[in-house]
Amino acid sequence: MNFSNSTVFDCSIIDVSKVHNDKGNITVVENGANIPFDVKRIYYLYDIPGGESRGGHAHYELEQYIVAASGSFDVILDDGLNRKRVTLNMPNFALHVFPGLWRELDNFSSGSICMVLASHKYDEKDYIRDYYKFIKLKK
Ligand code: TYD
Repeated sequence: MNFSNSTVFDCSIIDVSKVHNDKGNITVVENGANIPFDVKRIYYLYDIPGGESRGGHAHYELEQYIVAASGSFDVILDDGLNRKRVTLNMPNFALHVFPGLWRELDNFSSGSICMVLASHKYDEKDYIRDYYKFIKLKK
């Protein structure tokens, strides 16, 4: 999937498994094992004020796994033709997001943590922050 041909229907929730233990669970994401790209960067959003939304951009190249490491939030995906709202609320499930999709995040529960595993290092040139530019480029 690349910038031009990706759609919201390509983005699914992946079960990244869980090692259960009575003393607590552990989830492992390992390059070459249970993620289809090599992770170059991990970042997380936290202390998000109530009612706030994040995102509001698309990427040319970046591929991501988005995980609700704690609490819950929604990811709204838009490919220029279709929109899809996905609720994330379990740390052992990841939303696989391809390049070429506009995304917004909202409905953050109090204390939630949004962890993102990313295929590339941070590069502002990879962002499209203007929705109308995104729509034009997608056509
Ligand atoms: P941005 O990706 O726009 O945030 P969100 O989509 O969550 O609303 O990033 C917000 C700011 O943080 C932006 O000015 C650049 C900075 N930033 C980095 O320096 N490195 C990173 O890896 C990320 C994700 C953001």
